[in-house]
Amino acid sequence: MLDLQERQAAATAAAASPAIHSVDLAKHYGKTVALANLTMTVPRGEVFGFLGPNGAGKTTAVKLLVGLIPATSGEGWMLGKPLGDRQVRRRIGYLPELFRYQPWLTAPEVLRVHCELARLPRSSWKTEIEGAMTLVGLAGRERDRVGTYSKGMQQRLGLGVALLGSPDLVFLDEPTSALDPVGRHDVRQILHHLRERGCAVFLNSHLLTEVEMVCDRVAMVDHGRVIASGTLDDLLGGKSCRIRVTGLDPRQRGSLRAFGDLDDDGEWITVRGLEPERVPEVVDEIVRQGGRVYAVEPRHLSLEDRFLQLLGEGEKNS
Ligand SMILES: Nc1ncnc2c1ncn2[C@@H]1O[C@H](COP(=O)(O)OP(=O)(O)O)[C@@H](O)[C@H]1O
Ligand SMILES: [Mg+2]
Repeated sequence: MLDLQERQAAATAAAASPAIHSVDLAKHYGKTVALANLTMTVPRGEVFGFLGPNGAGKTTAVKLLVGLIPATSGEGWMLGKPLGDRQVRRRIGYLPELFRYQPWLTAPEVLRVHCELARLPRSSWKTEIEGAMTLVGLAGRERDRVGTYSKGMQQRLGLGVALLGSPDLVFLDEPTSALDPVGRHDVRQILHHLRERGCAVFLNSHLLTEVEMVCDRVAMVDHGRVIASGTLDDLLGGKSCRIRVTGLDPRQRGSLRAFGDLDDDGEWITVRGLEPERVPEVVDEIVRQGGRVYAVEPRHLSLEDRFLQLLGEGEKNS
């Protein structure tokens, strides 16, 4: 039995440990390298985007982490414990990429089965189920059988299942693939909500624009390898801003140099090295000089652009 001090120290260490840490985690299927040497850290309470084209190894990474398949080599830890720890498994949520719920059940019945599987206290089931139905936007559809749900509604239900029991870490494998723009927006809201609650999210997606809107940090994968990782600012050069301006003469346009290095193609002015907080100041200055502002893009590169750039660089170097 640990004494109080030891228990407190263990609790502090657990809280300080990252949500996920992996070192050289790899999975081979015969000659196919599904995932090669994945080394990464996902901090607690952040939304982490794992991005890449189809076949890049995203689902394989999630299956390794949640313990559905064994790694060929390498090691990993989740919430401070080695992969496969049963206690940790109870504190994670998982929305698989391909799932199918019993079509003859209603959504609350499916959720109930999962409350039982997750061994949540029976007294909490009602609150959990109602909470999940509301959170994923299925309230009002309690009586319909899952077999009559659209693909998008089934995906919402899957998200509800993953969120039962307030997990500390949630894996979402392509959570928006079947959703329309409203559904995608709802998922973003849910991700914000999870982040506010301190829940870490590992989000697999091939929809790069989606991810840009919600992730704190991303890793880009291709052919089983991580080709870049970091915060969005690291990857996209957050300290730069593109502004579409008319009505300023060349001297006036040049005067914006006071804010940072300029790139001016006559239509767009890019100010490099500009702290995001100073964007409004630049716009004020343009307007003060009589210019008209048509667009302001605090990050001029999109994840998609960056990804294609990296793929291009990879090809050049190989
Ligand atoms: N069970 C398996 N047997 C053989 N090859 C597999 C298996 N699962 C995945 N792969 C291969 O591993 C690679 C990565 O697959 P996957 O992780 O599903 O990619 P993603 O989720 O990024 O689309 C692909 O080339 C895929 O064909
Ligand atoms: Mg996949």
